[in-house]
Amino acid sequence: MGAEKKWLLTLFSATFLSLLLLLLSSISAFSSPKPFPSIVQHGSHYSPAFAYYIWGGRGDRARIFRLLLAVYHPRNRYLLHLSADESEEERRRLAAAIKAVPAIQAFGNVDVVGKPDRITYMGSTNIATTLRAAAILLKVDSGWDWFVTLSAMDYPLITQDDLSHVFSSVRRDLNFIDHTSDLGWKELHRVQPIVVDPATYLARRSQIFHATEKRKTPDAFKVFTGSSPWVTLSRSFLEFCILGWDNLPRTLLMYFTNVILSQEGYFHSVICNSPEYKNTTVNSDLRYMIWDTPPKMEPHFLNTSDFDQMIQSGAAFARQFEKDDPVLDMVDKKILKRGRNRAAPGAWCSGWKSWWMDPCTHWGDANILKPGPQAKKFEESITNLLDDWNAQSNQCQ
Ligand SMILES: *[C@@H]1O[C@H](CO)[C@@H](O)[C@H](O)[C@H]1NC(C)=O
Ligand SMILES: *[C@@H]1O[C@H](CO)[C@@H](O)[C@H](O)[C@H]1NC(C)=O
Repeated sequence: MGAEKKWLLTLFSATFLSLLLLLLSSISAFSSPKPFPSIVQHGSHYSPAFAYYIWGGRGDRARIFRLLLAVYHPRNRYLLHLSADESEEERRRLAAAIKAVPAIQAFGNVDVVGKPDRITYMGSTNIATTLRAAAILLKVDSGWDWFVTLSAMDYPLITQDDLSHVFSSVRRDLNFIDHTSDLGWKELHRVQPIVVDPATYLARRSQIFHATEKRKTPDAFKVFTGSSPWVTLSRSFLEFCILGWDNLPRTLLMYFTNVILSQEGYFHSVICNSPEYKNTTVNSDLRYMIWDTPPKMEPHFLNTSDFDQMIQSGAAFARQFEKDDPVLDMVDKKILKRGRNRAAPGAWCSGWKSWWMDPCTHWGDANILKPGPQAKKFEESITNLLDDWNAQSNQCQ
């Protein structure tokens, strides 16, 4: 071996060694425990975590912030969407309010959609924005188990400790979605009309327009609908809808693009027409609502007269509420034990609790849960739903 070669060999081994050392040190930097408060554990050995998509329209900033605090937990992930008809200033104020909450800043688990879409209740924009939100949440966080949709008019009836505790005993591939194939009057009025939603391609908001013809109810797949667009979907089902290894979600998306209320049928029809997923449907939206008979577009506004019945219902969420209705203060006080402008406390909050101090400005182990009294009611209703699910009595029928 010549002197030159020897020199080269030394150089190579030195480079190799230093690279190896660099690699080792970076691996140990990743695996060494981070400072205590920020360790959040996810996975099948831990309690489940939730990805919340919360959206609202013009004038909804304060409601979205209040709802976020009511459902906040360091183990979850949140995406907030103030639709495009709200000003940039309001969106900035929302982001600033979020940044000012110490726990949210430390855990970094809340995002605001920076390039908002128009959301109209009718038409296909609604389902498009929900799919977009799910895609973002899948991408930014690998830890969550279920995707939950909420609007600014909703509110929780249990704490996040209750929710995660009860869902610990639920199979993580189950999907909670209210559905039926008994279309009834909806066949003529909701399924057959063809509509075009201009919000998908026009910057200025305008009403959907109806085509003069109707189309036949499809026969290549069965249309399912629910009285409710509100869903709690498993991570694996959303991957099925979004990653697109199967044609079904795409085919149905093309069909539902021209349906009046796409959000009342899209997920319902995809899941019930899919052989791999239809056995994972639990027929419930986990929401408390009061409908008129015959039902109108939206359920009643709930008020303090409904409080007792609402908390006895064993539902996880309720809708809909007027902005700052006194019944929300009752839920804060009696169920969430939440102070004004503070996150709903859970076992993760370790600070002193008093009127002048927020217990959630200090925290301990975020993976410990402490279910409260409402968890029992919710557990009963989940047990009943799972019994129905086992009996396969009202699944995708
Ligand atoms: C779903 O349930 C039906 C009826 O029990 C069964 O025949 C089928 O194999 C199940 N499908 C899957 C994918 O588990
Ligand atoms: C609550 O709403 C119902 C109608 O939805 C009304 O009859 C009742 O008076 C309201 N209660 C209060 C306390 O406002």
